[in-house]
Amino acid sequence: MNTTQQHDEATECLTEKLRALGVAEARAAFVLGSGLGPFADRLQNATRIPYAELAGMPTSGVPGHEGQLVLGEIEGRLLVVQQGRVHFYEGWSARQVTRCVRSFANLGIDLLMLTNAAGGMDPSWELPTLMRITDHINLQGRPPLNRGEASQACPYDSELGELMDRSAQKVGVELQRGIYMGLFGPTYETPAEVRMASWAGASAVGMSTVAEATVARSAGMRVAAVSAITNPAAGISKTPLNHAEVVEAGRALASRFCILLEAFVETAVEPNP
Ligand code: HPA
Repeated sequence: MNTTQQHDEATECLTEKLRALGVAEARAAFVLGSGLGPFADRLQNATRIPYAELAGMPTSGVPGHEGQLVLGEIEGRLLVVQQGRVHFYEGWSARQVTRCVRSFANLGIDLLMLTNAAGGMDPSWELPTLMRITDHINLQGRPPLNRGEASQACPYDSELGELMDRSAQKVGVELQRGIYMGLFGPTYETPAEVRMASWAGASAVGMSTVAEATVARSAGMRVAAVSAITNPAAGISKTPLNHAEVVEAGRALASRFCILLEAFVETAVEPNP
């Protein structure tokens, strides 16, 4: 058996396990990035499934990533939430990084909300803040799609984007818009790399999201994404960055982030029957 077959079997196994847990009833899937786990704690009637109990589900060793799937409701809408994700820089492959998203798509879940922590490059933004991702630049050096899978121009759905903007306005949460540049990590960027990212038109740099967005869109899901801009990117920041500060800033943003996401769910997601 070659590696492609093994990986596909692992995804099928995970999909069937999730189906048995009732995940196919979820109206939308969420992936929560570093320090953004508190959103999952707001779900009503929640069931928590540690990744360790899901065969084939890779588990992150990065602090700030809880490593469990949460199935629960917001105002009558059943959601499935990945509380923590894995990254390329931990040694996971593209298939492993995107396996759970592929399973969500296989179960027929139509809407995916991706979130992450990122460094910001726009000097006019007061940090920390939230940014809706309008498009991305993939400099992770790993092709997210398998050979033969159709790629789409921009993975992020503009109608969902507008609903997110409107939700932000409604609840009075500041939401910037910008392009996310995905880099491999885990080292933070050099000031020269951050200048390159700015010249390329990016407003934020981070180490996740692009593969999941690309795969989900290719599989027919509608994708929305939001970055928690936790820190000024290297060179803009006067002090060296570290992950603990990123997680801390993510937590400081958590209540705004949760209010925005809840408003978005109520606007963009249909209640379950
Ligand atoms: N760079 C890359 N990833 C990040 C950053 C950053 O400055 N902050 C949070 N995640």
